[in-house]
Amino acid sequence: MSVKKHFSFVVNGENHTVESYPANRLLDVLREDLRLTGCKEGCGEGECGSCSVFLDDVMVNSCLVPIAQVQGREIRTVEALSSDPLGKILQEKFLEHNGAQCGICTPGMLVAAITLLRRNSEPTLGEIQDGLAGNLCRCTGYKKIFDAVADAAKVARDQGVLEGQKA
Ligand code: FES
Ligand code: FES
Repeated sequence: MSVKKHFSFVVNGENHTVESYPANRLLDVLREDLRLTGCKEGCGEGECGSCSVFLDDVMVNSCLVPIAQVQGREIRTVEALSSDPLGKILQEKFLEHNGAQCGICTPGMLVAAITLLRRNSEPTLGEIQDGLAGNLCRCTGYKKIFDAVADAAKVARDQGVLEGQKA
């Protein structure tokens, strides 16, 4: 029978230690233990992307990550994106283009868009569609989201924000 253990990790630059069953999901630890409710549960099966966060700077579906795998590692959630220049531009452009309606998909879309723009600062529409293909939205019809990402990429290029971003 599984027993609770302590797990320590960094979230948005702060050290945290939680007591949890090893198989508990990162998504639940973030939302319930740490009250970081930005990441959302859509499908709970790794299909919708609404729970996306950065784990050691790589996008993951937090509904699929057991907390035991997070020991000693670094997580960044959507709550930290307003202090990230690229994240801030994306948030502004999602608002401007009405790319967020119910908002369930939005945190994951932002994480996926950052991941895309770090490796491709001037994506075509097709590349934006591919980059966000793992993130499902039931509300917007996607066009507004793609427009927001394309516009954010242009502003980020103009402001030099994408220079030196990690791939
Ligand atoms: Fe994690 Fe859908 S809730 S991918
Ligand atoms: Fe509602 Fe995307 S805005 S699911």
